[in-house]
Amino acid sequence: MTWLDLLRVTETPFFWVGGFTVVLLSLWVLHRLLQGFRIWVLGNGQLLSPKLGQWAVVTGATDGIGKVYAEELARKGFSMMLISRSQDKLDDVARQLEEQYKVKTKTIAVDFGLSDIYPKIEAGLAGLEIGVLVNNVGISYPYPEYFLHIPDLDNFITNMINVNITSVCQMTRLVLPRMVERSKGVVLNISSASGMYPVPLLTVYSSSKAFVDFFSRGLQEEYKAKGIIVQSVLPFFVATKMTRIRKPTLDKPTPERYVAAELGTIGLQDQTNGYFPHAVMGWLTTVLVPIQLVIYFGARMNRAQRTGYLKRRKMRELASQSNGKRDGKRDGLKCD
Ligand SMILES: NC(=O)c1ccc[n+]([C@@H]2O[C@H](COP(=O)([O-])OP(=O)(O)OC[C@H]3O[C@@H](n4cnc5c(N)ncnc54)[C@H](OP(=O)(O)O)[C@@H]3O)[C@@H](O)[C@H]2O)c1
Repeated sequence: MTWLDLLRVTETPFFWVGGFTVVLLSLWVLHRLLQGFRIWVLGNGQLLSPKLGQWAVVTGATDGIGKVYAEELARKGFSMMLISRSQDKLDDVARQLEEQYKVKTKTIAVDFGLSDIYPKIEAGLAGLEIGVLVNNVGISYPYPEYFLHIPDLDNFITNMINVNITSVCQMTRLVLPRMVERSKGVVLNISSASGMYPVPLLTVYSSSKAFVDFFSRGLQEEYKAKGIIVQSVLPFFVATKMTRIRKPTLDKPTPERYVAAELGTIGLQDQTNGYFPHAVMGWLTTVLVPIQLVIYFGARMNRAQRTGYLKRRKMRELASQSNGKRDGKRDGLKCD
């Protein structure tokens, strides 16, 4: 049999396999486009309503992303339980929500860096019918740093694990049983894109956020049959106090823009980057670019940030030393 004969014999099967593959791929692309349209254009914003339960609980509710979740949930008619560190800031946010959205509010002032706060929170939540829990509270590094160079490392570790991990598990322990009893409820756990792959020089933060993502996805599988939605939310940069980004851009949105987009994904995605440009970034960094490259560039970016931060700190220290000397001399002259 010649090559030409062989080609002739296999031509028809090849044609059908190729045709079938093209049809399957086209259907897959169409499905993804329709899914994207459903999530990012139509959204699912109406899912969150007080029919889930009259109260919504937000941790870290006095600033940034948590404050905007509190505002959006109050706008939807939820009575709001705000939990954060400082009572003054809690009172300000509570007053603003009551005046603007005519909703009831309650506050609990606790430091999530401590582990003995949960009886106080349990007492504060007693008797409330909670439809939505937003586990938002979280802290990051003051600047990117090598693990062993982190100042006060022992306390840093305890504090970050308590705020970023223990709070999510303990708040869920307190709120989930009543949601399961009523067969409805939504738990939003704010992880981070830093939890999608290791981020060197932010290693403890990145690992804590990977925990939040795994916890959420595991819990969603355990409780979805009971009518509970648990969503893992993984934002890239958002312009808040934590990131010190003052000028929002398309890829670093305001918390208002981010949360408005994220709310549309609830019930449609168990794990979400929450905002279309972030979803594109998530796809690029997990599907298109090899993980070793993502880790390498993350390390390079954070090393550069670290160097810049340490240089600026040194300059500030030198400036304050020379100001101190000048003031000392002036005081000395005055004394003379
Ligand atoms: N911003 C981003 O780019 C970004 C990206 C990915 C993920 N995230 C995650 O999103 C969440 C919110 O971030 P954010 O940028 O909105 O933060 P933020 O602007 O710094 O606000 C944090 C909130 O948490 C409260 N808080 C901090 N430490 C606390 C503690 N020990 N006890 C009680 N409350 C405490 C703060 O209260 P005080 O005002 O009293 O400190 C504030 O209300 C975090 O989990 C973060 O990891 C943020």
